[in-house]
Amino acid sequence: MSFLTDLVHSPYQGDHNTGAVVPPIYTATTYAFKDVDGPERFDYSRSGNPTRQALEDQVAKLEAGHAAFAFASGMAAIHGALAIFEKGDHIIVGQQIYGGTFRLIYNYFLRWGLEVTAVDTRKPEEIRAAIRANTKAIYFEPLTNPLLQVTSVKQIAALAQKYGLLTIVDNTFLTPYLQQPLKLGADIVIHSATKYLAGHSDVSAGIVVVKDSYLAKRVYFNQNALGGILSPQDANLVRRGIQTLALRMDRQIANTQAIITFLKTRPEITQINYPYQPDQAGFDIIQAESKGLGALFSFELATSVDVAKFVSSLKLINLAVSLGAVETLIELPYKMSHAELSDAELATAGISKQLIRLAVGIEDVQDLIADLTQALDIACQK
Ligand SMILES: Cc1ncc(COP(=O)(O)O)c(C=O)c1O
Repeated sequence: MSFLTDLVHSPYQGDHNTGAVVPPIYTATTYAFKDVDGPERFDYSRSGNPTRQALEDQVAKLEAGHAAFAFASGMAAIHGALAIFEKGDHIIVGQQIYGGTFRLIYNYFLRWGLEVTAVDTRKPEEIRAAIRANTKAIYFEPLTNPLLQVTSVKQIAALAQKYGLLTIVDNTFLTPYLQQPLKLGADIVIHSATKYLAGHSDVSAGIVVVKDSYLAKRVYFNQNALGGILSPQDANLVRRGIQTLALRMDRQIANTQAIITFLKTRPEITQINYPYQPDQAGFDIIQAESKGLGALFSFELATSVDVAKFVSSLKLINLAVSLGAVETLIELPYKMSHAELSDAELATAGISKQLIRLAVGIEDVQDLIADLTQALDIACQK
């Protein structure tokens, strides 16, 4: 079956008991044993739940993985994945990974004895230089937020394999619709399913997908032991969201392209970070490894324009963090999503105070462009 059909039907989305065309939400926390030798499949909802299992099987299939594990948030999923490592292990991480992941690693896992080196994953020589005898994995996001710097999954996975390291990819921004990192050589894929997979800004969720039974055993142990599981109700919302993933992303990408075409006509826009043209860094990698660039991008306004006035003058577009949902969201990274960074860290990361991030939704793009136009006009007034 094609990926588009799999989104809707795979694995079997119905209920064998009743013929219902979607799986039921099983709320039971415990399951009757047939006899003292044990239950048939499920015994306790933290350890396994049929509704959560339906979602896990669905995402495992879409990511071409061996198994998937659903957690109560993207951060809980990242915790569950990184907890496969042991005291004294060393991991290499991308310098521009999500700030919450950085916080989890530096303010939590370091206390438990994990060692870490942050590098620019676009540069294999930096990765090679960081590898030590105790290095176990490379963790990165193929497309960074908010600057959309591109790292090749294929290149990193080949390097990791050469040195016997795991490749762990946060695929939140591209989703399996645009990129399937396991097929490119990665070992573990992580999602903040709060974003594109669920798609409606109404559920927090995270998923870990693994490529083999060895990793499945280790992540399952963490899911069950840590207990940060996704509820059956939320698992059903994510499962349902995924069925329309391609439809939503197609519209979001088309809207993104139209908005970028519009922004290029405005002299106040000094930079657009969305590598969609051959002369832009990362374009070749995206062409080779991904079906598209997604619907998140950033742009800079000239220093003469009041950025705060611009974003506060929007009437349709919400001023909010997060991304990947049906509604368009705009934010100022230095004040919102990346507010914990010092001025020096912002400068190193290349995030200026004129940078704006737009997560494009599925609205009529002419309404979005009209909203951006009127807000730009207000912000440009002296
Ligand atoms: C790339 C990425 N990974 C992980 C997370 C964490 O996910 P959650 O907010 O669902 O815990 C986020 C949140 O914004 C993210 O952008």
